[in-house]
Amino acid sequence: MWWQDAVVYQIYPRSFQDSNGDGVGDLAGIESRLDHLAWLGVDALWLSPIYPSPLADFGYDVSDYTDVDPIFGTLEDFDALVDAAGERGLRVLLDIVPCHTSIEHPWFRDHPDWYIWRDEPNNWLSAFGGSAWSERDGRYYLHSFYPEQPDLDWRNPEVVAAMQDVFRFWLDRGVAGYRLDAIDRLMKDPELRDDPPAIEPFGLPLTEEEAKLAHLYSGNAPDTGEALARIREACGDAFLVGEIYLPSAKWQPYLEHLDAAFAFELLFSPWAAEPLRQAIITTTRAPGAAWVLSNHDFGRLATRFGAENARAAAMLLLTLPGASFLYQGDEIAQREGPEGESRHDRAGRDRFRHPMQWTADPKGGFTTGEPWLPVVDPVRHNVEEQRDDPGSMLSLVRRLIELRRRLGSGLRLLDAAAGVIAYARGEYLVALNTTAERQPAPEVLGDVELETHPDALKEGKLAPRAGVVARALG
Ligand code: GLC
Repeated sequence: MWWQDAVVYQIYPRSFQDSNGDGVGDLAGIESRLDHLAWLGVDALWLSPIYPSPLADFGYDVSDYTDVDPIFGTLEDFDALVDAAGERGLRVLLDIVPCHTSIEHPWFRDHPDWYIWRDEPNNWLSAFGGSAWSERDGRYYLHSFYPEQPDLDWRNPEVVAAMQDVFRFWLDRGVAGYRLDAIDRLMKDPELRDDPPAIEPFGLPLTEEEAKLAHLYSGNAPDTGEALARIREACGDAFLVGEIYLPSAKWQPYLEHLDAAFAFELLFSPWAAEPLRQAIITTTRAPGAAWVLSNHDFGRLATRFGAENARAAAMLLLTLPGASFLYQGDEIAQREGPEGESRHDRAGRDRFRHPMQWTADPKGGFTTGEPWLPVVDPVRHNVEEQRDDPGSMLSLVRRLIELRRRLGSGLRLLDAAAGVIAYARGEYLVALNTTAERQPAPEVLGDVELETHPDALKEGKLAPRAGVVARALG
């Protein structure tokens, strides 16, 4: 299976590379940057949504699943991108949004029975706050996210058939798989019962409002597997990774049909050895964890864990067994941007989505026009300069991806000093110091193959915030 230990690079198409000077990234721009991805050594790229969209949720509100939004290009551009990627040994994954459409999708007008309606709202909450129900012509439709994103009824066979066609459409055009958006919200209680008050913590971060309820009925219904089986039926052996916003203990029914699930417990762990270790233990109880430390929703690696920990965090991400997902710009430790005056995303996620910084140019080489979101700090972080610098984050990430191919299968956690997380991958050992002080390194570390900083391992001690991949002694 090609995806087994793959590195998948997440592209946020609006912000990767603009080719026509309109300030918004596009498919031709992505194609022009494929050599960067091939040089970096990743296996696949995942494109956040490229479909026509009124942009209430920046593409996650789809108004036509089988076309490309003109801002990104055309279907021909897409085909050209898939071909050009293939020539470089890169696979293309799409982001698919099966839970809801845009309210402007013709289905909402032509097939209201494909959606979920109620005479009065129940107590379910939208992930973005407030009731999950909005009124239309005297009735209420369900939207697990923004009101512009009505939820599809996957118990309606016509919906299933229509979405199966969508999955097949892009597979026929050469995509290697899908990231399934918000898949834990696919199936809801058929009786639409109220969610009861929470009696135990959910296990992943929730808003204060959400944390008051146990999300027993508003998602993750017992027949989710039946819907996923229909998705799998349409997708054959394509790679399917689920965005399942549930603790990993609840993945099992999903992983009967999907290949992998994003390991949110690790993403939300503080940068400290013990919670990281616990998150790895929890999420690797069953196979299927896909590792991700940053994305367009939750922020950038170098900001979330602190710039001083970015190198060790990249080492962790890229030395775990299973598919690892790298968000564009994290390979140069790009920082989050400011939350600007002109808020594009109402949920406040613009700061995770600023343009990719290719050069030190004020526009970062991203566009010749006015970037849709400002370019943050291209002088400090850009691909061009880091490529030639053996000490750069970019060089480290590239060497990690290369070394990853030689790591053995499986993972064995090792005893280590407080503040240090250490594990074996076959003949190699990884040790990361999460603290600001020098810490004793595990004694079994042999020759260092790769280090996050010069002299990361010296006289049996790991430098602050540093990590090494070393040969195992003996
Ligand atoms: C997923 C996407 C997020 C989007 C939401 C609703 O969580 O990653 O960006 O807002 O689904 O589609």
